[in-house]
Amino acid sequence: MNLLDAMNWRYAVKAFDPEKTVADEKIEHLLKVAHLAPTSMGQQPFVILWVKNPEVRKQLVPHSYGQEKVATSSHLLVFCAKTNLNDASVDAFMQHAASVSGQPVSTYDGFSGMVKGFLGMMTEEMKLGWASRQAYLAMGSLLTAAAIEQVDSCPMEGFMPSAYDEVLGLKEKNLTAICAISLGYRSADDATQHYPKIRLPYEAIIQTV
Ligand SMILES: Cc1cc2nc3c(=O)[nH]c(=O)nc-3n(C[C@H](O)[C@H](O)[C@H](O)COP(=O)(O)O)c2cc1C
Repeated sequence: MNLLDAMNWRYAVKAFDPEKTVADEKIEHLLKVAHLAPTSMGQQPFVILWVKNPEVRKQLVPHSYGQEKVATSSHLLVFCAKTNLNDASVDAFMQHAASVSGQPVSTYDGFSGMVKGFLGMMTEEMKLGWASRQAYLAMGSLLTAAAIEQVDSCPMEGFMPSAYDEVLGLKEKNLTAICAISLGYRSADDATQHYPKIRLPYEAIIQTV
């Protein structure tokens, strides 16, 4: 299946088949794709939380406008933005870059100053918006990869972030929940799969000047 066919095949699954499980290796493959997603200044200011504990997943359902798939899909991933973006986090990133490249950390002084300057101009709210946008890029990459692998998915932001933060203990980790993906295989009873794909006309979205 080519990429365009895969994007037509995928849809936001409303009901997953509770009997079908995605192999963990396949999920890891999808996560590796998300890990490689491009981000602004390469900072990857997010964490993707693989929620493995079924009890915790059940606790999330009432905070997800009753979306049962949070608990019943094969896998659940929660994308979280970092809330402690500051000079120290930039320094840690540059240390990491130096260790990967084998260059002295001073090689990155100019870049470090640029990233610190960029973050320094932002309010906490702006930083959260910036970090969230990077998380969404990773989410999009993972959704596309899932389609190619014929793994069903549903992206979700229909939940209460503050409640997710509480249940998942995110505040202590300097994280906050942004969006989530349920992964699994579609239920034969999910009528949504038969709905036509509704998109605005191609020309309304893709324009030229
Ligand atoms: C960021 C984002 C959040 C979404 N949140 C939800 C959600 O909470 N629950 C849900 O059932 N679908 C959710 N959707 C699915 C969209 O409604 C769906 O992708 C859109 O209607 C297009 O339909 P399709 O993906 O089936 O082609 C979300 C999609 C995105 C991209």
